[in-house]
Amino acid sequence: MDRHSTRYSARSHLAASLTAYLEDLQESGLDGIPAEMLTAPGADTPLQRESSAEQDKEGAMSDQLNAADKHETLEQIRKNLGACQRCKLGATRKNLVFGVGNPKARLVFVGEGPGADEDAQGEPFVGDAGKMLNRIFAAMELKREDVYICNVVKCRPPQNRPPESDEVSSCSPFLLRQLQAIRPEVIVALGSSAAQALLQTKVPISKLRNKFHDFHGIPLMPTYHPSYLLRSGGNSDSFWSVWDDMTQVLQLLKLPVPNKSRNR
Ligand code: URA
Repeated sequence: MDRHSTRYSARSHLAASLTAYLEDLQESGLDGIPAEMLTAPGADTPLQRESSAEQDKEGAMSDQLNAADKHETLEQIRKNLGACQRCKLGATRKNLVFGVGNPKARLVFVGEGPGADEDAQGEPFVGDAGKMLNRIFAAMELKREDVYICNVVKCRPPQNRPPESDEVSSCSPFLLRQLQAIRPEVIVALGSSAAQALLQTKVPISKLRNKFHDFHGIPLMPTYHPSYLLRSGGNSDSFWSVWDDMTQVLQLLKLPVPNKSRNR
């Protein structure tokens, strides 16, 4: 199979597996999934990833045409969430934190859930953990606006506790729809809550990280949460662990890997 056929087949696989997953969720009684989501979308890949001319050559034209009125946008998903009260977090939040960044990002970062600063501002990763995440972006020579950033749950859990399973279940259809709308090439799961929720596992982050996992056809790299780096103080091992994970992400995206000297 050539490169374009491989990509096309990966996209078809992603669309089919997301569709099956959404059907499962709908059958289990979760709301918020519009009927058009149950039709596999086509391949209107953003220009920065692959030109539409190339796709047409590979026979993806009919998918693109089919996708034209079926492909859900982030704005539509946000509108569908509305003033969400689907779980108990809705009662205590100040602002719903939907996500921020490039709607055509090649790389999406998924955190756990908003903290106090995010709840106040309605934007993910704007507090101390966000400053640490920005440092990770800087080390990767990426701009915050190049990527997309969101969380497993969109409303702040009280006292910053990890989100509970019913909260994750209520919110994850919307996260899936965001990921389907963006269709990134790589996802980074920040911390155990995000990695475990996305991969449906209880395996600890220390065992999940440093290798790619399959998330409905998209490579997913779990890594330590920026808050863990903050808590680990001067322990440079955890920083280098995150850097090792991000190096793999950059390599997969065929982006330059900045040289960092470890002095050890
Ligand atoms: N921690 C997270 O997991 N997400 C945020 O948005 C902020 C802190």
